[in-house]
Amino acid sequence: MKIPESKAIMNQFIKNKITTYVSAIVMLSMISFFPFKGFSQSFNIIPYPNKVERGDGEFIFSGTTKIVNKSHNKELATAIEPLVSKLKTASGIVLTKGKKANKTNVIVVELNNSITEAEGYQLVVSPKQINIKAKTPIGVFYAVQSLLQLLPDDIESSTLANNVTWKVPAVTIEDAPSFSYRGLMMDVARHYMPYSFLEKLIDLMAMQKMNKLHLHLTDSQGWRFESKKYPKLTNIGAYRKGTPLNTTYDYASRPDDSLYGGYYTQAQLRKLVAYAQSKFITIIPEIEMPAHSKSALAAYPELACLDSTGKAFPYPSQVQDEFCTKDATFTFLTDILTEVMNVFPSKYIHVAGDEASKVNWRKCRICQQRIKDEHLKSVEELQSYFIKRIERFVNQKGRQIIGWDEILEGGLAPNATVMSWRGEKGGIEAAKQGHNVIMTPGEYCYFDHFQSDDPNEPAAFGGLTKLAKVYSYQPIPKELTAEEGKLVAGAQGNLWTEFVPSVQQAEYMFFPRSVALSEATWSAKKQTYEQFLSRLLPYLKRLDKHQVNYSKHLFDIKINSFVDSVSNKLMAKVVGIPNGFQVFYTTDGSLPTKDAKAYTGPVDITANAKLTVGVIYNNVVVDKVQKTFTINAATGRASKLKTLANKNYNAGGEHAWNNGIFGSENRYNDQEWLGWCGEDFEGSVDLGKKETVNHVSIRCFNKPSSWIYMPSSVSILVSDNGNDFRKIEEQKNFSIANDGAQKIVFNTKGVMARYIKVIANYYGNIPQNNPGAGTPAWLFVDEVTVD
Ligand code: ACM
Ligand code: ZN
Repeated sequence: MKIPESKAIMNQFIKNKITTYVSAIVMLSMISFFPFKGFSQSFNIIPYPNKVERGDGEFIFSGTTKIVNKSHNKELATAIEPLVSKLKTASGIVLTKGKKANKTNVIVVELNNSITEAEGYQLVVSPKQINIKAKTPIGVFYAVQSLLQLLPDDIESSTLANNVTWKVPAVTIEDAPSFSYRGLMMDVARHYMPYSFLEKLIDLMAMQKMNKLHLHLTDSQGWRFESKKYPKLTNIGAYRKGTPLNTTYDYASRPDDSLYGGYYTQAQLRKLVAYAQSKFITIIPEIEMPAHSKSALAAYPELACLDSTGKAFPYPSQVQDEFCTKDATFTFLTDILTEVMNVFPSKYIHVAGDEASKVNWRKCRICQQRIKDEHLKSVEELQSYFIKRIERFVNQKGRQIIGWDEILEGGLAPNATVMSWRGEKGGIEAAKQGHNVIMTPGEYCYFDHFQSDDPNEPAAFGGLTKLAKVYSYQPIPKELTAEEGKLVAGAQGNLWTEFVPSVQQAEYMFFPRSVALSEATWSAKKQTYEQFLSRLLPYLKRLDKHQVNYSKHLFDIKINSFVDSVSNKLMAKVVGIPNGFQVFYTTDGSLPTKDAKAYTGPVDITANAKLTVGVIYNNVVVDKVQKTFTINAATGRASKLKTLANKNYNAGGEHAWNNGIFGSENRYNDQEWLGWCGEDFEGSVDLGKKETVNHVSIRCFNKPSSWIYMPSSVSILVSDNGNDFRKIEEQKNFSIANDGAQKIVFNTKGVMARYIKVIANYYGNIPQNNPGAGTPAWLFVDEVTVD
């Protein structure tokens, strides 16, 4: 992607745009769930098991149901604990230990090598017995998770549920995951999250059979890991001055209510590790290096590079967010990693390696000397030296490192696992070099992206990663051979929290996207998205019982507008309606009910309208999408672009700039904005006949942090024949101070014209000291108006 959706870049341009999202959608919890027409599935298990066969009858739990552990393994008690405790809480039933002779009303659990997969299981439910077989206690734990999903959703209730028959349909399930790594990453550095949230996240991950929680514990905006040896890391580095994303730290002003932050004590983290272990989840800690380290440098400025005068960069005025490559840095980091490895038993320790600008390494005398001494050719090789040196230390302790895909640059450390985030490229390259890989490509796995086109979405980092997109993810890239594909351990959804200040919003971003990812990493046979939705809707009722603030954008519905080639009319078409759902619409902005007009095909747009489309299921709106059409003389008229927009920013097609829909005020990656990189915009529109034109306007988008700039100039030209245009007005010197859409209005004073042309010249190269400096700026345009 040429427009970098980079953390580092965003950090420089953060505004407090964080808003509370008040959903206008009727709560899904009101839905009563029945299998949809057109779906034959009747087992609502997520992730969907490999093999499911329905039997006859059902097993009914009662006060006398027994449980028999046929194998002696002390972890079995842990594996069945969720069933025991949830039953007790929700139903009051206390499972008691049975004898091997018990044949009815009994749950029999057994470790058995006939199950070959380490995490696999067999679950057989008959009216008399529930049999669970697995090779290991982990498999038993996953059988229990499937069993819980077969019980009524009240099993997730935290209080006694009345009038429920605790029954499970007879079934035979054989199941095992496709991938051994089924993860989520939580960034607790940008925004600190309370300990209780981490336990809750673990509970929810366990329900989805996810098994890796990657904790991003340190970054420039906060150090969250208690070090006994380096207390200033938390005394100073855990509390930044002000919010949301300041990176200045000021010990002198503490205690001061304006400081933002927090950290986890080692005791808390040990407790969390044990809690995760009880759900068969591994916590993988990440300590950022060499970059993203301002919080550590604030505490220990002596670890920064030397400036051109030979002095350490002073803090906080220094720009550096990388550690210097001096020996003291390695002493510090190996000390920290020693403490980290003492707290976290994970075989894998994440040492980051991402987004190092290496700017100061180029200038620093010590780093330059290091390059000479180690016979390195570049700062990229210096980064590789850095990571390899850290890897040697971690390997000596019997552990392995994971790094972001930048660790490929300058040469990969010999035993490193690569986490591929800048698309799949890094993962492909690493697998081809014989390294293990975890896939987290932004397009599918970045949960800090928006999840719908809804203009009311809460602030997000950028990007757009819809639920359907996450569900469609296949972690093994097709570029890999079968042998290389085996090196792909799985995938992970990442929640960076620059724009996620609260637990509520973290839940909103994680759910239900993490549910989709759990299935993408578990189920061998991908089902259709509609089949997934048919199981997700009932699953959401379970999330309700845990008060999860999940997003209600489940469908991938869009309103596309187009000009009908026969009637020449502007039409709106709804795409992405899932099978089995009815869609209704209004044009006045009100939420449709089932008494509204049923959508049966494209709708004429002849006047200003707020087209609101609702998906209705059992009389309740379960998703909606809205587009506002504002009609003017240019709307829907024949139009031409000299050069089509860049394919990454062309979602609305070549007529998006005169389709009557304004692009978002603050998001350039919607269906409306058209983007060009290093090119001018030239578009003309035919009004159909000669008209009096009083005003022409055009909107452009400005966001220097994403390399998007206002044009250097915009001109309006008119013509009577569509060939010979004359320029009637030009404007220049647009402000680039504020991010967002800007409307440029021309007073054309009643000129008579049939054809109008707009030329917007791109900004030129990005100025120094800005992200992307020296490369061509992007130009984004949407919606011409003529009156
Ligand atoms: C990353 O998003 N910088 C790994
Ligand atoms: Zn240095």
